Amino acid sequence: MQISSKEDYFKAWQEASENPENFWSKVASEYQWKKPWESVQSGNFTDVNIKWFDGATLNITENCLDRHLQERPDKTAVIWEPNGVDEKEITYTYKELHAEVCRFANVLKDQGIRKGDRVVFYMSMVPELLTGVLACARLGAVHSVVFAGFSAQALAGRIKDCEAKMVITCDESYRGAKTTPLKEITDEALKDCGSIEKVLIRVRTGASVPMKEGRDIELLPLLKEASPHCDAVEVAAEDPLFILYTSGSTGTPKGLLHTTGGYMVWAGFTFENVFQMQDDDIYWCTADIGWITGHSYITYGPLLKGATTVMFEGVPTYPEADRFWQVVDKYKVTHFYTAPTAIRALEACDIELVKRHDLSSLKVLGSVGEPINDEAWQWYHKEIGKENCPIVDTWWQTETGGIMISSLAGVTESISTYATYPLPGVIPQLLDSEANVIDDKSGEGNLCISKPWPGMARTIWGNHERYKETYFSAYKGKYFTGDGSKRDESGRYRITGRVDDVINVSGHRIGTAEVEDALNEHHHVIESAVVGFPHDIKGQGIYAYVICNNGKAPTSEEEQENFKKELNAVITKIIGPIAKPDQVQFVSGLPKTRSGKIMRRILRKIAAKDISNLGDISTLLNPEVVEEIKKGAGL
Ligand code: PRX
Repeated sequence: MQISSKEDYFKAWQEASENPENFWSKVASEYQWKKPWESVQSGNFTDVNIKWFDGATLNITENCLDRHLQERPDKTAVIWEPNGVDEKEITYTYKELHAEVCRFANVLKDQGIRKGDRVVFYMSMVPELLTGVLACARLGAVHSVVFAGFSAQALAGRIKDCEAKMVITCDESYRGAKTTPLKEITDEALKDCGSIEKVLIRVRTGASVPMKEGRDIELLPLLKEASPHCDAVEVAAEDPLFILYTSGSTGTPKGLLHTTGGYMVWAGFTFENVFQMQDDDIYWCTADIGWITGHSYITYGPLLKGATTVMFEGVPTYPEADRFWQVVDKYKVTHFYTAPTAIRALEACDIELVKRHDLSSLKVLGSVGEPINDEAWQWYHKEIGKENCPIVDTWWQTETGGIMISSLAGVTESISTYATYPLPGVIPQLLDSEANVIDDKSGEGNLCISKPWPGMARTIWGNHERYKETYFSAYKGKYFTGDGSKRDESGRYRITGRVDDVINVSGHRIGTAEVEDALNEHHHVIESAVVGFPHDIKGQGIYAYVICNNGKAPTSEEEQENFKKELNAVITKIIGPIAKPDQVQFVSGLPKTRSGKIMRRILRKIAAKDISNLGDISTLLNPEVVEEIKKGAGL
């Protein structure tokens, strides 16, 4: 169902709100189901037992692939652009992609993977990451992609949590000028993971890697031998499709579980309406499949809609900081979807790097992952879009499965820094500090969603109580997003950022508690507190306040630098380099309330170098420490 005017958008939103059964059964009927549903939606946010299209059966890959074989077998489905400019791209038509996915599914089957088994992918952006997740879906196996920047320990934690049977990795990855030894990291992780029976290795760099007899097998030779036919396994709409781990404000990462039918309908519907593609358009989302954006808007959304999707292995700055623009020019990309952090980083480079490429193919620009500041928005609009391309600022989360609030390209207006309107089916509410719904048209508060939508995660793998507690306990009967938002007189939303202890570093979501736990593993650290602070390129940076054991605090600048290196090594080992602090301040204490709670608000202000309105600190357990911390921060 493509919405093509603003009037239609309002009508669709109204209908989806008032008569969701009718609306979603119309949208869902565009897909192939093996058995129809008995009910469109059931369950509620009080019992937290949401189901969509219950009773129906399907296979999502038939909708991504087989369905297109009649109408567009020779249309390019995927263009894979390698890391290096000298290497040739690989393209797959829908027919070829179908065959590749079937081959991969046959390999998985031969290696013992069956419906319901969990398969972890720890790969860089090679084509087999995309075909591999689809191959799992073809068999009804559950994929869980772990971003290839995570450490062995982080990988092991995820493998153990979902009790995966198989890991698929590369020998090494290419990313810019760097290679990362993914197989070596996997081996390290697997020392401690009993559930893994097989490891498939996709050779990418050709590095020599140890192979464990009976466990490790090279992937490409198996694919070559495999049959390109594989029947799609029939699964229930509510059967698991994938698990994706993400950070929260407390505890270990959560494995959000997405199920099949509702996710499919949501990914397809949101892709179609937000991006508004024409049949011969070329779409490029620069995310990594290790994150939700790469699941919904490199893989499932575009393929469900028969689009051509570009998949890029490299980084925006390699071999030079014009790579994005060079690739847009090379493939005549029409729809370009990236993160504000990339925009800011490229904005800081010489404008000649943009000007040397022809960007006239572009029609629509997108932004995702964090709030986009006005300056970056204007630069994107002017220098990349040449003031001709609507910008869709898409707000959503790993938990939501797909875009929730965004303009629809060329259909509803784009406004700098505003995600603008909720998609049909999304009923946002703003709540004030007393948990009252803000009824006025405009306002500011905590952002909740009051009704179920098809793409929402159904649970946290293995821990439904935690799911309920995390998302549905702050405001009874509502899904709490963890974000704050403003709303203007016209009902348009402007997301202001997280209101919980989650920070968004270069669009990567990092729980402060996770970083603290990792820092505390250092044998000379007694306690730490981690907060976000404004960062010109990353959006938010990580600021760590660290208390050392008696007599172990580094004093000279050199000692401090060495200690910081050790802390970075601990973080890299436990989480991965993405969680390394940008700033570390050694302190003798942390401001605490009399009940022992760390006053993060004060720490956030000091990290932001803003010491106005620190509030009444006299009631703290240790008010004197605030002065010391201010001084240590140079304030
Ligand atoms: O704070 C919001 C921010 O990213 C969080 C979700 O992160 P993650 O689950 O990793 O998914 C990122 C990709 C969808 C949100 O809670 N966020 C995401 N998109 C936007 C955003 N903040 C403002 N504007 C956006 N467009």
